[in-house]
Amino acid sequence: MNSSEKQGDDSTLPVMWENWKVVTLTETSSTNEAARDYDAWTAVVAEKQTVGRGRHGRAWASGPGGLWCSLVLPTPGKPEQWEALPLAVGLSVIRTLAAMDVDARMRWPNDIMVNDRKLAGLLLERYAPDCVVAGIGINLTNSPAEEDPGLESIAIRLADLTPAVPAVDDFLIRLLGRVHEVHQQVSETGIEPLITELNQMWGSLPRPVELHTPEGVIKGDFQGINTQGNLLLKRDPESDSTEFCAAHVSQLIECTPNLTD
Ligand code: BTN
Repeated sequence: MNSSEKQGDDSTLPVMWENWKVVTLTETSSTNEAARDYDAWTAVVAEKQTVGRGRHGRAWASGPGGLWCSLVLPTPGKPEQWEALPLAVGLSVIRTLAAMDVDARMRWPNDIMVNDRKLAGLLLERYAPDCVVAGIGINLTNSPAEEDPGLESIAIRLADLTPAVPAVDDFLIRLLGRVHEVHQQVSETGIEPLITELNQMWGSLPRPVELHTPEGVIKGDFQGINTQGNLLLKRDPESDSTEFCAAHVSQLIECTPNLTD
C-alpha cells in the first residue's frame, strides 16, 4: 500500500492517510520520543527501535517485523474525560485483532494477551496539556525471544497465531481506523458507554491477581474497572472493592485460582 511509504532512509516526511499524518522512520530510539513534537493525529512508526520502552522503565524488544508506533491523540476539554484513554486504545487494538479473527483480551492496564502470552503492549505518555502520545507495540513477525530469551515463555507473535499476518504498514492502517473510532466515541460520549465492552475484555472475572505496589504485594480478586479506568480489587469476600490507578501498580500478576477454596 502507498499510504505510509518511506521517503528515504531516515525520512520523517509525512504521508497523509484519511485524518492521519503518517511518519515512517527506519530506526529511532523510541517512537514515543520521536512523536512528542508532532501535532495531533500524527502517527510515527519505526521499523526498529533501539531503546524501546515499556511501562515503569522496562525495556521493550523492538526488532524488525513488529509494529512499533506512537499516535499523537488530541485530548481537548476536561482531563477527566480522557482518564481511561489507555483502555480505549487497548480496545481499538482488540477490535483490530478481532477483525482478523484473533481472539485477544486485555490484562489491566496495558497488555494485550492471547491466552497467557503477551502479544502487544501500550505506553501512553503526556508531553503537552492538550494531547497524549499513545505508544503501541505489537509482535507480528519479529522475534522477541531472540532479542531477549526471557521472553520465550511470555511473549507471542501474530505469526504464531495465523498464517495470514498483514504487512506492518497494512496492520498500522487498520489500527489507525480503529483508534480514530474509539477516540470519537470517547470524545462524544465519554468512556462510560464503553465500560461494559471493556469489562468483557479481561477474560473470565473475577480473576485472582497480585498487584505490585509501593506498599508491597497486594492480593485479591480483580473485578473489572470503574468509569475512571481504575482497577477494582476485592481483597476478601466481606469487604467492598478497593480502587487502584494504573500509575500505582507497577505489575499485575494473574494467579491460578486455588481450587481448594
Ligand atoms: C508495556 O507493555 O510495558 C508497554 C510497551 C509499549 C511499547 C511501545 S512500542 C512503540 C512505543 N515506543 C516505545 O518506546 N514504547 C511503545
